[in-house]
Amino acid sequence: MDGDVAAVEQAAHAALTDAAQAVAASAALERWRLSYLGSQGQVTLLLRAIGKQPADQRKAFGMAVQATRNRLEAAYQEALQAAEQAGLQQQLAGEQLDVTLPGRPIAAGVPHPTIQAMNDILRAFANLGFQAVEGPEVEWDFFNFQALNIPPDHPARDMWDTLWVDDRMLLRTHTSPMQVRYMREHTPPLRVIIPGRVYRYEQLDATHESQFYQFEGLMVDEHVSFADLKGVLTDVARQLFGAQRRTRFRCDYFPFVEPGAEMAIDCFLCAGKDAACRVCKGSGWLEILGAGMVHPKVLEYGGLDPQRYQGFAFGTGIERIAMPRYGIEDIRLFYQNDLRFLRQLRVAPAVPPTWEREAAW
Ligand code: FA5
Repeated sequence: MDGDVAAVEQAAHAALTDAAQAVAASAALERWRLSYLGSQGQVTLLLRAIGKQPADQRKAFGMAVQATRNRLEAAYQEALQAAEQAGLQQQLAGEQLDVTLPGRPIAAGVPHPTIQAMNDILRAFANLGFQAVEGPEVEWDFFNFQALNIPPDHPARDMWDTLWVDDRMLLRTHTSPMQVRYMREHTPPLRVIIPGRVYRYEQLDATHESQFYQFEGLMVDEHVSFADLKGVLTDVARQLFGAQRRTRFRCDYFPFVEPGAEMAIDCFLCAGKDAACRVCKGSGWLEILGAGMVHPKVLEYGGLDPQRYQGFAFGTGIERIAMPRYGIEDIRLFYQNDLRFLRQLRVAPAVPPTWEREAAW
């Protein structure tokens, strides 16, 4: 019977090696375990046969079977661990990251046309030393109207009707309230550009929205004149619309400036030669902003002495600047979130970029 035990052990070791090498190692090992160490397994049967051995051989046989069982158990555990390790390595190999694969393209957006135009405008004024600041969209009647020389019964309020939060607070109708706010907080010389959203009770059409963006400009110092206003705005118009631009200033009325003016540039698209021109409609001129010398009363509201300081201010709609630059014919397209519209502006603007100024001058 000793020979049987040795033969079983030898066969078991050989079968274990095969099982451990099998592709589906864990299933093969389990089959091996059942056939040798399971309840009907060969080693278990040998264990059960101990009692049937002649009395003089029983002890030696029992010890041999037990030792065999212990060795096979240990070998089995070792094979199991090795198989698990091999399986894990195989799994890791399958999950390896191939860094040579080309990356998945990320769909990058583009800045909204209003923001593109705003950035160009801020850059053009920064070239002249103007600092950008922002102000509140919910504003006091005081700053939106009264401090701009528009008392409660003034007819100009009708032009700038808006949503009121209560009888003293409203959604600002223009960026001009920042003139007095800024003057109160700073000492001249002042040179600021103030972009931001404004709100109006408005009949919507191709050039009128009820929410849109404006930018305000303010320069205050001793000895500032209308010539400075013309110089600054002409320079910026050339940065934004091309180095050859001519500008035209005509009288206009705003209660917070005196004198007041409207500024136009000559048409960069047709130079007045096309009666059906989408930019100037054949007039040859494109009005772009309102401006003027800051009214003495506004300087006083800002805490500045009008005998000592003068200043100029200007304001315009950013979409109205973006529309001719990008060839957009209806302002209502800006905020409908139509991707077909927004994606078009990956193309270069219709007019020369701001750096043309450096090349031409
Ligand atoms: C004003 O808002 C003055 N605060 C501008 C100003 C500032 C004048 C400083 C003098 C000194 P006005 O209401 O004209 O002015 O508007 C200025 C610009 O905003 C217009 O020229 C136009 O470009 C734009 N704008 C006006 N209403 C709308 C609208 N409903 N939709 C889009 N843009 C508009």
